[in-house]
Amino acid sequence: MTKIKPAATGDRTIPPKGAKMIPIFIMGREYMVPETLTIMKAIEYSGYKYTRGCGCRGGICGACATFYRFVGDYRLRTGLACQTVATEGMIIMQIPFFPSNRPDYNLETVTDTPHEVLRALYPEVFKCVGCGTCTRTCPMDIDVMDYIALMKRGDLKGASIKSFDCVLCGLCASRCPAQISQFTAAMFVRRLYGRVIMPKAEHLTKRVTEITSGKYNGMLADLAEMDRDVVKKLYVEREREPDMSGAGAWMPKDVSHL
Ligand code: SF4
Ligand code: SF4
Ligand code: FES
Repeated sequence: MTKIKPAATGDRTIPPKGAKMIPIFIMGREYMVPETLTIMKAIEYSGYKYTRGCGCRGGICGACATFYRFVGDYRLRTGLACQTVATEGMIIMQIPFFPSNRPDYNLETVTDTPHEVLRALYPEVFKCVGCGTCTRTCPMDIDVMDYIALMKRGDLKGASIKSFDCVLCGLCASRCPAQISQFTAAMFVRRLYGRVIMPKAEHLTKRVTEITSGKYNGMLADLAEMDRDVVKKLYVEREREPDMSGAGAWMPKDVSHL
């Protein structure tokens, strides 16, 4: 097979002198790229320019879901293109988007039967066959099968906590034999948990009431009138909560504004 020379148009990566070049396959074509690049940078190094399938480049947005195999290995692997290092013999296909079930709902109308609402909106969740493919697929090492099991049992708090690190890449849904969109169901459950189940933060309610009743209007007006440098000085010299201070362990000297 003819090896295609790197065009290096999309990425400004300059390989270190003497960098080892390795063959990888992008959408079926072979390219030579310097080793140590992420899949995302290797794709750009090979001359592709991203218009989709790339966002934060930091493993947070979930836009760069990727499948790959190695030559001679039957296993299909998954990763985030911005976080996975391209290695020799990788056969790569990035999926810029995976369709998921996103039913309409209005959280304001959900009352005291959240589990039943989940069942009505995402009935497929209850068809999970417990195969574990989703857990093995997740690039965030989330036990997806377990949070689906928690949803089925009605433990929406547990499912919310367990799914919290989800970056919505969609890889789990792409492999599910029960056609479950785990990540959108989990997003719904976290919203439900925050709206209906989680205890309300009384101190937050109190502070919002104070703000809307105008308690701080005078202070804000004074700040708006101040010279920019004075505001900067105030900011720099402000009393700060110590790093790693325990909850409730610190109070400012001046409590008149609390
Ligand atoms: S739970 Fe699914 S959508 Fe979320 S990070 Fe894992 S594979 Fe991606
Ligand atoms: S891939 Fe689908 S059926 Fe298999 S454990 Fe995960 S949610 Fe259940
Ligand atoms: S680009 Fe955001 S997770 Fe990879």
